[in-house]
Amino acid sequence: MENSQSNQKEKIICTCTGTTEEKVKQLIAKGANNLDKIASATGASTGCGSCDVLIEELLEK
Ligand code: FES
Repeated sequence: MENSQSNQKEKIICTCTGTTEEKVKQLIAKGANNLDKIASATGASTGCGSCDVLIEELLEK
């Protein structure tokens, strides 16, 4: 499901905190296995909360 044609290296997943998808993936790789852990590490999902589903999607992979 990787789109290698994308030129966007830094895809922002959470605009409120400027958290990138890459950052979230790194945290998951380091053992952050739920939204709470991502949130406490990055602040993502603690603002408007609209990125919740995007983070959940990454967690499921
Ligand atoms: S986009 Fe992540 S909290 Fe608003």
